[in-house]
Amino acid sequence: MCGIVGYIGKKQAAPILLGGLKKLEYRGYDSAGIAVREEDGVRVVKAQGRLSNLIEKTEGGAVFTGTAGIGHTRWATHGVPSECNAHPHCSFDGEVTVVHNGILENYRELKEKLLRGGYVFRSETDTEVIVALIDYYYKKYKGGPLDAIARFMQRARGAYAIAVLFRDRKEDIYVARKDSPMIVGVGEGEMFVASDVPAILNHTRKVYYLDNLEMARLCAEGAEFYNIDRERVEKTPVTVDMDPSAAEKDGWEHFMIKEIHEQPRAVADTLRRYVRDGRVDFSEAGVGEEMLKPSRVVIVGCGSAYHVGAVLQYVIEGLARIPVRVELASEFRYRNFIFEENTLVLAISQSGETADTLAAVREAKAHGAKTLAVVNVQGSSIAREADNTVFTVAGAEIAVATTKAYSAQLIVGYLLALEFARLGGRLGGEEYARLLDGLASIPEKMQSVLSHKEELQKFAAEHMNLHDVFMIGRGIDYAVCMEGALKLKEVSYVHTEAYAAGELKHGTISLIEEGTLVVGVLSQSAVCEKTLGNLEEVRSRGANVVCLVREGCAVGAPAGTVWTVPPIEEYFAASLLVLPLQLLSYYVSVQLGHDVDKPRNLAKSVTVE
Ligand code: G6P
Repeated sequence: MCGIVGYIGKKQAAPILLGGLKKLEYRGYDSAGIAVREEDGVRVVKAQGRLSNLIEKTEGGAVFTGTAGIGHTRWATHGVPSECNAHPHCSFDGEVTVVHNGILENYRELKEKLLRGGYVFRSETDTEVIVALIDYYYKKYKGGPLDAIARFMQRARGAYAIAVLFRDRKEDIYVARKDSPMIVGVGEGEMFVASDVPAILNHTRKVYYLDNLEMARLCAEGAEFYNIDRERVEKTPVTVDMDPSAAEKDGWEHFMIKEIHEQPRAVADTLRRYVRDGRVDFSEAGVGEEMLKPSRVVIVGCGSAYHVGAVLQYVIEGLARIPVRVELASEFRYRNFIFEENTLVLAISQSGETADTLAAVREAKAHGAKTLAVVNVQGSSIAREADNTVFTVAGAEIAVATTKAYSAQLIVGYLLALEFARLGGRLGGEEYARLLDGLASIPEKMQSVLSHKEELQKFAAEHMNLHDVFMIGRGIDYAVCMEGALKLKEVSYVHTEAYAAGELKHGTISLIEEGTLVVGVLSQSAVCEKTLGNLEEVRSRGANVVCLVREGCAVGAPAGTVWTVPPIEEYFAASLLVLPLQLLSYYVSVQLGHDVDKPRNLAKSVTVE
């Protein structure tokens, strides 16, 4: 979603801002803009579409000379994607300039008030209301920038991270946040602002995390932090251990294919962190035994993270015999959930910033449930708000469509399942060791699946004119279908649906026509024959059937195209089965000429409801 970057120091600001925005492109956006403080006031340049348009328009930043500025990539919420609606937005007289992430929920009511006060609006955005309100308080109360921003914060409902330039405060940039992330980076005689660490990683690793309802004043020499009452807050910077090269393609054509290939490493690194001396060890995450002995587990997440939960429900229930519910975070937060005693809410999120998942964590905490987050980004909001966090070790994920974070989340989930089972007295000794060995074999087996990628590439080339695809399976295989279908539709725009194999004939089978592609996933021995039967039903109605099979699954030899993955413990089969589906999605998208890393309308981290 939207991205913010800011700079104040001695260097020319514009190239640094554009470089930062480039690193935020992966979040998804439809327009971009920068504002730089020049001799004669703040100058703004914006462009619709790709960042390259803005780079061209500003000659790579050369049209600016100033050494302080703010920049933004916008993912439209209020108002169509257009140059006019792009940020930064300025007050009419140029006094206040703002970039904003999030949604101001009461903007209509505030706009009415400002219209009555004579303010005029040029765009359809809620952000312009923020600009006008800060400008109004700045001029009316004359209490300075922090006073004006604090008054805005007292009136605002919703989520926001803002960076603000005041025309007459030549030495400063101001930032504030509520429910949208914002970090302040520390350099030598220069300071940075960003909504997301990769934006400033090339300049510094030393960052301050702004907490909810905090503000900061930045100048070239440093930053001061304040709470909403304008009292000073002392903060300690942290050093982020993210590899800047993670945000580079390293010779790969796209981030998605690079990240698909990074999965064996992501899995191995995650295992290495949480398996020690033949035992699962979450002590580094501060997860005590009490948290690992729940009576029930509720898994919340969005998108692919929800699909990880869909796999884990089978694994946890199967191994630990603890009842599990999987809930879409956006539904969970509003459903008046009944929290039974000793419920553990497991929140899964790559970014740690998804608004609905964060709200679900808060809802769970408010009801006294224990919350455990599985998150990829250190310092993110969910990581900081959940009682404990187990970090996946996937490294920065840039492609919008997740691959390696999904795989690393599965691993943490399997390890949790083993611990639930061990502490619940259901697993021990040899069986525990056998399952851990099974997990340790996943990276090598993933490598073996990836080494057959040409098969998928060829299939994609031959089938690029797909228009409806169904992926069917039962149990864990169905959960894998959910992820495979999301992957294919989000990057290739080919309509794809996941179906529980037994459910297809209750209506959806009417959509099967001559040549419709149906992928059957077959890894769970107990239900393989059933799914094969369902595949025969669609084949006899003209479907083109492909079977994705775990070697060793008792399926006989299905006719037609067969993709196989190596033998693996059935509980962990999703880790291998997902790979051919990711590769298929990638190659179909590339064949169709789509922007595979940044599919239309999508955002990497969804920070609005
Ligand atoms: C977006 C992304 C998905 C992701 C989902 C949840 O929709 O495009 O790939 O699965 O958000 O994101 P999270 O960061 O919470 O895992």
